[in-house]
Amino acid sequence: MFTSLAGSSVVVTGASKGIGKGIASVFADAGAKVLIVGRDATTAQAAAEELDAGRGSVTALAADVSDPAGCAAIAAAATMRHGGIDVVCANAGKFPEGRLADLTAADIDDVLGTNLKGTMLTVQACLPALRASGHGRVVITSSITGPFTGFSGWTHYGASKAGQLGFMRTAALELAPDGITVNAVLPGNVLTEGLQDLGEGYLNQMSASIPLKRLGTVADIGYAALFLATREAGFITGHALVVDGGQIVPESLDAMA
Ligand SMILES: NC(=O)c1ccc[n+]([C@@H]2O[C@H](COP(=O)([O-])OP(=O)(O)OC[C@H]3O[C@@H](n4cnc5c(N)ncnc54)[C@H](OP(=O)(O)O)[C@@H]3O)[C@@H](O)[C@H]2O)c1
Repeated sequence: MFTSLAGSSVVVTGASKGIGKGIASVFADAGAKVLIVGRDATTAQAAAEELDAGRGSVTALAADVSDPAGCAAIAAAATMRHGGIDVVCANAGKFPEGRLADLTAADIDDVLGTNLKGTMLTVQACLPALRASGHGRVVITSSITGPFTGFSGWTHYGASKAGQLGFMRTAALELAPDGITVNAVLPGNVLTEGLQDLGEGYLNQMSASIPLKRLGTVADIGYAALFLATREAGFITGHALVVDGGQIVPESLDAMA
């Protein structure tokens, strides 16, 4: 039903583990040529080898999205290896906990620098190639935290994730004349290494507050990103797609059946 993405050039930042790896896996299974980006070269290379599984279409690059030079390297590598860029999944992110009263300016810069500035720099660096594609697609990984909900200990994170949507909407307008769509997926709680670090208590309490009674999988987010990247989603832009098992729907625990 959907036009195949086989052979498309896809960049996924923060893809050496977690949600980004899940997104990269879904695109690789769809036959795309995928560039996996993370700061740690060994982890990124291992993820690429695992997802490639002999296909010869998944490779890795060590780069930091908070650094303009890193983003330039990402765009150059994808263009050189794949002949262009059709899809950019700006997914790299971090979520260290810290109460507002305790956050330093450096803590705030760190989170905003990767999550918000990193998203902007990634898309900016890939723009010439996305324009050349003729049907460029940008899929940003935001979150329900910030745009829809709050969570004590994550003021800087919530601000970065809401900020990504502000960026998305104006970028969608600026890039529409080039046929580029800019959308976001907003995961709820997805079982990743990063989330696992928050502890068993957090995971159990989170599952209980989700109407579908489970945490998301990285593939759940990958399929949403894949949809937004299809030709058939070409009339959707500036849209925030919540993928959360219904987590933001109930007014309270009592509201759930
Ligand atoms: N897990 C959830 O439940 C959840 C929910 C909502 C939204 N999200 C969002 O989903 C995205 C991924 O989260 P996750 O849970 O999958 O995290 P994760 O498991 O900690 O993975 C983060 C990935 O990003 C990379 N990364 C971090 N900083 C980077 C930088 N400056 N430059 C390049 N790569 C960088 C990491 O590799 P290196 O450390 O090697 O760089 C890793 O590949 C984030 O944007 C997060 O906000 C997650």
